Amino acid sequence: MALRLGDTAPDFTAKTTIGTINLYDYLGDGWGILFSHPADFTPVCTTELGRTAQLSAEFARRNTKALALSVDPVEQHLKWIGDINSTQNVSVSFPIIDDSERTVATLYDMIHPNASATLTVRSLFIIDPARKVRLIITYPASTGRNFTEVLRVLDSLQLTSQYSVATPADWVPGSDVIVAPSLSTEDALKQFPAGVDIVRSWLRYVADPAAQQQT
Ligand code: BEZ
Repeated sequence: MALRLGDTAPDFTAKTTIGTINLYDYLGDGWGILFSHPADFTPVCTTELGRTAQLSAEFARRNTKALALSVDPVEQHLKWIGDINSTQNVSVSFPIIDDSERTVATLYDMIHPNASATLTVRSLFIIDPARKVRLIITYPASTGRNFTEVLRVLDSLQLTSQYSVATPADWVPGSDVIVAPSLSTEDALKQFPAGVDIVRSWLRYVADPAAQQQT
């Protein structure tokens, strides 16, 4: 059955460009992004892996490790990394899984037979430190992912894991957030002493508590 939000991310051990790794050991007590690519030496995938490498400091700042996957063998991945590095002006250091047996692709339902019988679509999973799947997004092969959005969701997930808040449409870190419906206004006023903007009894805003902490 397909994975759903809140499910435990299936563990696996796989051959990768940095050696054999076990998912849970690789992630340790941090967050992870597992994302698949249709094939090696393809232009859109090349830009996506380049962008992930460019953002490596941003992922590290969020205690998040990237783990890419393509159904080609590791020898091909290693040659492709050379091309990614030279064409995208980066240094890819995160692992790319050799999923030539489609083991991980099957485990994570990354092959959508009506899109392609053999190639993975652009699946992306955010996995939290409790090993739960917190985000699933699926893009078609023809559309490269927006990694700024992936970072934004990570920020939202990490913030909402720490505080009783939710993030509104198009939220970006530092802008106001919504008080979780489960929190009473009385408790919200205690938790957010800087103030609660009560637009409706069920629509209440507070300043981003993570940004407040930094000031
Ligand atoms: C690409 O990554 O460029 C790509 C892969 C498969 C189909 C179309 C584009």
